[in-house]
Amino acid sequence: MSELKNDRFLRALLKEPVDVTPVWMMRQAGRYLPEYKATRAKAGSFMNLCMNPELACEVTIQPLERYPLDAAILFSDILTIPDAMGLQLRFAEGEGPIFDKPVRTAADVDALPVPDPEDSLKYVMDAVRTIRRELDGRVPLIGFSGSPWTLATYMVEGGTSKDFAKVKGMMFDRPDLMHKLLDTTAQSVISYLNAQVAAGAQALMIFDTWGGSLTPRDYKEFSLRYMQQIVAGLTREADGRKVPVILFTKGGGQWLEDMAATGCDGLGLDWTTDIGEARKRVGDKVALQGNMDPSVLYASPERIQKEVAAIMESYGKGSGHVFNLGHGIHQHVNPEHAGAFIEAVHKLSAPYHR
Ligand code: CP3
Repeated sequence: MSELKNDRFLRALLKEPVDVTPVWMMRQAGRYLPEYKATRAKAGSFMNLCMNPELACEVTIQPLERYPLDAAILFSDILTIPDAMGLQLRFAEGEGPIFDKPVRTAADVDALPVPDPEDSLKYVMDAVRTIRRELDGRVPLIGFSGSPWTLATYMVEGGTSKDFAKVKGMMFDRPDLMHKLLDTTAQSVISYLNAQVAAGAQALMIFDTWGGSLTPRDYKEFSLRYMQQIVAGLTREADGRKVPVILFTKGGGQWLEDMAATGCDGLGLDWTTDIGEARKRVGDKVALQGNMDPSVLYASPERIQKEVAAIMESYGKGSGHVFNLGHGIHQHVNPEHAGAFIEAVHKLSAPYHR
């Protein structure tokens, strides 16, 4: 494997000195890019794109060809694990993800396997290997997974939900069943992420998109506890380098101290938390990733620069900040505005590292 030419993303997550603040964007390979739409059309569907390692590699690298990003993220989806468990994932046009075989009963939960990542998820590992080869050390590659709770919401609801009626119904009425589902899923996530590291992922991120829908008590019992189990089970070093782990609970700003105590290296922040306040709360324990409101990218490049400057000033001097959006980039954003955002981070951050 070739030497990493740009390691500021990994260094910032470990709070080691950097020249400028590293930056990447959640969903950086996506529908706001015309070249993404062209490759997706060639693939025929989103899942075909995920399952074809050459095309998944192509779209992973597209944003890096346009912008001086400091990390690449595997192009895939968090719902690959439940699909490999037999739930039969499909994306209906305009409707989002659907599982034809959702998990509703004790028998459904008992039947869930822990998938072998080099078997039913081999297409993901092949994508990781292909991307690492094609990146040729340009920037580190981030592997990822959903959190057990977030995956459970899709598995039980059978798709996207507004009120989480079914999954919360199971959680409140059959906590034993919910814990069994979450435990099987956590075991699956551990083996999936460790396989991504073995295949070449250099950092890991866990997306807990729906942890913020829980009460503080339920968050700790049904979401955080399983992310903690995952962090404890992960391979933390590969090729003589640390493999940093980032936890991101959307809407989880009030639980940062508990999240930092899991032993992860970084916390993702959405835009509802002030990053300077967050830094005071977690101290030296973890790095922080975030947290510009993705809607700022609809504003002018001048306004985007001002927002970048304000977040940087709030974080303050020194390493430990990975600049990002507070959630995925929206599909109707002008790609030039994303470029202005990335350029502003590099240009405005140098004084904070002197
Ligand atoms: O960040 C990246 O660039 C990596 C790729 C990535 C995708 N999904 C690609 C994708 C990642 C990390 C995800 C994670 C994901 N998938 C989450 C957690 C995200 C978060 O930010 O909290 C969730 C909840 C999912 C499930 C999922 N996949 C949904 C709800 C959708 C949207 C469906 C729709 O029609 O809008 C997807 C599809 C999806 N995943 C797309 C992309 C680029 C768009 C699909 C397309 O091209 O049609």
